Amino acid sequence: MPISRRDFLTSALAGSVAVGLSTGTQAAQDSPGNKNTAKHAAKLPIIISAANGYNYLDQAYAFLSSGGDTLDAALKVVQGPENDPNDESVGLGGHPNEEGVVELDACCMHGPTRTAGSVAGVHNIKNVSLLSNTVRLHTGHVMLVGEGAARFGVAQGFQRENLLTERSRKEWLLWKETHSDWWGPGLDSPDWRRRFSGATTADEWEQRIRRMEQIAADIGIPPELRMEAIRYVIFPPTGTIHCSALSEKAEISGCTTTSGLAWKIPGRVGDSPIIGAGCYTDQNVGSAGATGNGEENLKVAGAHTIVENMRHGMSPLDAGMDALKRIVRNYNGDKDRLQFVDMVYYILRKDGAYAGVSLWEGYETNKPHQIAVHDGTRRLEKTVNLFAGASQSWPPVRMVR
Ligand code: GLY
Repeated sequence: MPISRRDFLTSALAGSVAVGLSTGTQAAQDSPGNKNTAKHAAKLPIIISAANGYNYLDQAYAFLSSGGDTLDAALKVVQGPENDPNDESVGLGGHPNEEGVVELDACCMHGPTRTAGSVAGVHNIKNVSLLSNTVRLHTGHVMLVGEGAARFGVAQGFQRENLLTERSRKEWLLWKETHSDWWGPGLDSPDWRRRFSGATTADEWEQRIRRMEQIAADIGIPPELRMEAIRYVIFPPTGTIHCSALSEKAEISGCTTTSGLAWKIPGRVGDSPIIGAGCYTDQNVGSAGATGNGEENLKVAGAHTIVENMRHGMSPLDAGMDALKRIVRNYNGDKDRLQFVDMVYYILRKDGAYAGVSLWEGYETNKPHQIAVHDGTRRLEKTVNLFAGASQSWPPVRMVR
């Protein structure tokens, strides 16, 4: 659905006002969240995934129900968005790095055999989830990166192809012309406020967005896609998909795949291909995966933390909330900074209990985070959020040149 300038301005202004005027008190109240995803699944098999896997759950569930392998089922789900040129978070059509090159990361864990595979920084091969599985099956290694991973893929029969769609290329051009600069202090630097250099009032935002709309028009971005492109430029997404699958005989596996942070510095690797951060599966306990700010999740080894929490008796919901609280602790609870962190965990225990938890309700107030579930009934459920309100993406406002 196209985003209107008015909707965009409302959410963008809310973010900059929260930062600009904050007195250090909490910007949003802690929320107990809803309990939708805290319940136990009634039956196995079950598949859970990020919301962008929803359309691919039926075929994967049918495969798993008829005795298919759990990792193969999870890979069927994540391949859907990888192959879809309109899904800009993974695979073909994913947002490129700052040089306009689509750079992909993925990993997988197979519970029954306790094996894992991973690839990072791969160009020109769209199904990196399958490539990570090929590393698992056909090497004595766990992780391959960059051109070595791509060459291994070609030797194994993967095709090299251009992954940059016209839509992603034009959005990258818009970013390049108006915002390109990842260098400078990060969110965890004492100097983080130095990154704020742009609009904070409604008038400044209006001016800024109008200018970007004009540049977007010059680049050739169609009118109905312009506000979305501007949002991607101002708030670079870290779109990703995770999927975990549990069979009737209680075998469990998981995988995660991503094009990573939009406009990233070439070579930047987030959490998704890191076993224990973007994905972790233990056949004795369960499986977990993440979408959101890779840098933050790396620092708490989120997926591993969650599985270990469940091993020590926590419910999937409590295990996920604990990982989120570790991120909060890393910022001493400072919501001026935490509003720029977006994190969602997808958690599946070996008995079929599951949870989707998120730091914030969603990216925008009208777009809540969701977990996709199929246990005989395919559905989307709102995640249980730690904080009320929506996150903003880092880095924040940059001046339009
Ligand atoms: N979570 C995806 C990334 O940060 O690369």
